[in-house]
Amino acid sequence: MVAQNSAVFFLFLFCFLFIFAFSGVEGLGKGEQKLFVFGDSYADTGNNRIALASSWKFPYGITFPGKPAGRFSDGRVSTDFIAGYLGMKTPIPYRWRKQLAGRVKYGLNFAYGGTGVFDTRAPYPNMTTQIDFLQQLINDSVYTKRDLKTSLAYVSASGNDYANYIAMNGSTAGFPAFISSVVIQLTVNLRRIHGLGVKKIAVGSLPPLGCLPANTAPSSFQRCDQTQNALVNLHNQLLLQAVTNLNNQTNSNSFFILDIHGAFSTVLNQTQAHQGPTFENPLQPCCVGVSAAFSCGSVDENGEKKYTLCSNPKSNFFWDSLHPTQEGWRAVFSTPAFQNSLNQLWLN
Ligand SMILES: *[C@@H]1O[C@H](CO)[C@@H](O)[C@H](O)[C@H]1NC(C)=O
Ligand SMILES: *[C@@H]1O[C@H](CO)[C@@H](O)[C@H](O)[C@H]1NC(C)=O
Ligand SMILES: *[C@@H]1O[C@H](CO)[C@@H](O)[C@H](O)[C@H]1NC(C)=O
Ligand SMILES: *[C@@H]1O[C@H](CO)[C@@H](O)[C@H](O)[C@H]1NC(C)=O
Ligand SMILES: *[C@@H]1O[C@H](CO)[C@@H](O)[C@H](O)[C@H]1NC(C)=O
Repeated sequence: MVAQNSAVFFLFLFCFLFIFAFSGVEGLGKGEQKLFVFGDSYADTGNNRIALASSWKFPYGITFPGKPAGRFSDGRVSTDFIAGYLGMKTPIPYRWRKQLAGRVKYGLNFAYGGTGVFDTRAPYPNMTTQIDFLQQLINDSVYTKRDLKTSLAYVSASGNDYANYIAMNGSTAGFPAFISSVVIQLTVNLRRIHGLGVKKIAVGSLPPLGCLPANTAPSSFQRCDQTQNALVNLHNQLLLQAVTNLNNQTNSNSFFILDIHGAFSTVLNQTQAHQGPTFENPLQPCCVGVSAAFSCGSVDENGEKKYTLCSNPKSNFFWDSLHPTQEGWRAVFSTPAFQNSLNQLWLN
């Protein structure tokens, strides 16, 4: 995910398509609730093990768990904070389901850094394939209908489809139609998760991609790219309509949006007072490649590091060119916008 610092939309490797499968049935103990997560690097906790993945290189993971272990940050990512909010253990990555079979009862994380709803990096599993993995486990009776009824899903689709569109030289004029096709496919995925029996499904809104360090680097991390942010707004408007329609069509309130966009905007907008951590320049990332050819974690053929690292990752909102630090995620989760949307996780 990490390679293309220049592509604006790349930031979203982590598509926040986590799907939470939250439990909602009264009387169930927390141990019986399961969280299923789908999407990209904003949610991945170790599925992407491709050798080139930065998440397995130093200095990723230095804050938590203390060494590189598959998260695209210095520490915890959105999945960890969501599980924490629910009082649950972080669901383990799908790839560890056999080694850590005892943890499967808490749900699974299918998110895979670099993916989108469409194919962004073959052979990475797109969201359709991630949902296939859950369906396979249901077919194999690893999860029962009752399990799913008490489950919540979190879906993170954070922008890799758009980074890929730009990388593939999609036209500017074609962008609105492409955004529409992304939201349509995302809607198909959300409906399918619901069809598998998951009762609560949270989908993250798209963050202001124009404010990602990959896109603010030309202004030395001073100014967001407003053209990209306008396209993000279109995505989020269409997503809100889609979620409203899904609830209408299913005569439920199963679907809701996690306000990633509002939370990022609040934290990045210095003039707005908010609870939680503040940052000196929230647009400045902690870990930066020495030139456009290098990214956080890069070393040359002699093993010399080709990036600079800030002295304290807690003082930066962004970790690398695309992803927040653990402290950045903590700030996102402490905004009123995010807390309000999180409250919808609880079954009613
Ligand atoms: C997802 O990947 C599968 C397997 O490669 C492919 O058959 C399918 O067309 C892809 N789906 C989308 C929506 O791109
Ligand atoms: C699971 O079973 C359903 C119904 O029998 C079938 O249509 C589907 O292809 C199976 N999916 C997977 C991933 O095994
Ligand atoms: C992108 O597409 C435009 C118009 O089709 C073309 O002129 C340009 O050379 C292409 N750029 C690349 C890098 O392929
Ligand atoms: C769903 O949409 C239909 C048609 O637009 C409308 O008549 C109906 O009131 C809506 N139902 C709910 C529950 O919002
Ligand atoms: C930041 O906050 C101020 C004050 O609430 C508001 O006027 C401004 O539009 C905000 N800017 C952004 C980029 O959200």
